[in-house]
Amino acid sequence: MKILVLNGPNLNLLGQREPAVYGHTTLADVEQLCRDTGARLGVEVECRQSNHEGVLIDWIHEAGAAHRRGELAGAVFNAGAYTHTSVALHDAIKGTGLPVIEVHISNVHAREAFRHHSYLSPAAAGIVVGFGVDGYVLGLEGLVRKARAAG
Ligand code: DQA
Repeated sequence: MKILVLNGPNLNLLGQREPAVYGHTTLADVEQLCRDTGARLGVEVECRQSNHEGVLIDWIHEAGAAHRRGELAGAVFNAGAYTHTSVALHDAIKGTGLPVIEVHISNVHAREAFRHHSYLSPAAAGIVVGFGVDGYVLGLEGLVRKARAAG
């Protein structure tokens, strides 16, 4: 089983970006944590990050095709600020049928009102919010459970 971990805009700045909100863990640390979690769960984890909405959409299309071929269980996706703006990412997830677990490091509901709405949530298979970078671990565990339950 394989899972894609996708990170969107500004998540390449983890570790230096607003540490009071996002902590001191870097993106490289997060990606290592995801690969280690994958090894523990017996799944291969591939990590990608882009600041560009269209690139993220292309990767979801690619992942959707791999999912239909039975090669990919789904994606754990922190879309960053595109969560709150992108109808196109919503449509990409819906249009491909890719199982996506939406992850946010911070509790977006305890922050500014513009972070309370997510275009991704109605298209997501599950949501993990507010657990810090452990959210990626929980997202991977949840996606593996769902994939194994689906057979
Ligand atoms: C975030 C929350 C978003 O509102 C923000 O734009 C981010 C990170 C999080 O992981 O908490 O870039 O997705």
